[in-house]
Amino acid sequence: MNSNNLYCVMNTKGGVGKTEITKALAYALAENGEKYKIYEFDLCNSSYNYENSEYFNEDVAINISNTEDMMNLAKLTLDYLDKEYNIIIDVGGGADAINVSNMLAKTNFQVKYIIPVSKSLKSLKNVVETIELIGKDKEIYFVLNQVVDPKKIEDEFMFFYGNKKRQITSFKKQFNYPFTSLPYSVFYELSDAYGMYIGDLAKLSQELDFETAANQFREEHIIKNNDVEGYEQSFASYLNSIDANLVTKQILSNFSVLV
Ligand SMILES: Nc1ncnc2c1ncn2[C@@H]1O[C@H](COP(=O)(O)OP(=O)(O)O)[C@@H](O)[C@H]1O
Ligand SMILES: [Mg+2]
Repeated sequence: MNSNNLYCVMNTKGGVGKTEITKALAYALAENGEKYKIYEFDLCNSSYNYENSEYFNEDVAINISNTEDMMNLAKLTLDYLDKEYNIIIDVGGGADAINVSNMLAKTNFQVKYIIPVSKSLKSLKNVVETIELIGKDKEIYFVLNQVVDPKKIEDEFMFFYGNKKRQITSFKKQFNYPFTSLPYSVFYELSDAYGMYIGDLAKLSQELDFETAANQFREEHIIKNNDVEGYEQSFASYLNSIDANLVTKQILSNFSVLV
């Protein structure tokens, strides 16, 4: 507990899961009783990714749209030296990755770099580019993102694992950094649409067992208000919560190597 890690989630490519991985990591830290701050360096995207959740709100998330923004850099340094917080930097693509790696290169901070890896062969070029930006000798972890079936991960991530029969050389062997994975789920976006994180959505089914929930919804909607639609809605949220909970369990288990 109270480990004081500085994580930097980085990939020169956009849309590979940097923000989703940042959230999963923060969630794993929170469930471990750790404090964290999220610094979002995103020149292109000024939309807030971290709000409305028990896990993400304006108290933990700082948005920086400019690496020249010395005040925020000073704040990050203070938080790092404070030792009370884990810091996660969610870096935007392209120029953001270059700017942040240059910025961190000027410090002697002990950084754990996390690089999202997707299934596409083309995107592995971005992984190589990102490793070169960071420096090969740094502490680097890969997170294979959007794993549908953990039992078939070697097929899903054929270009990462390599495949002898198909004569695909192994990226994993070439780079040999430790790695873990983030499960694919529609519930990240579904809970986001409700203004929550998947961890918030999972809470309902963690706190109420199925039978109690069903009775409660019946009492509240049918018996008191004769509101079938309201009952069905509550029931659907509960079922979504069960699925969300399965995903959060996987996140906690997979990310225990990082926290
Ligand atoms: N493991 C996943 N399962 C399902 N959807 C995902 C997953 N990872 C990312 N996504 C979705 O893909 C989109 C891009 O992901 P995001 O984390 O925003 O990428 P980046 O920050 O690298 O640009 C988002 O809509 C996000 O919710
Ligand atoms: Mg992002």
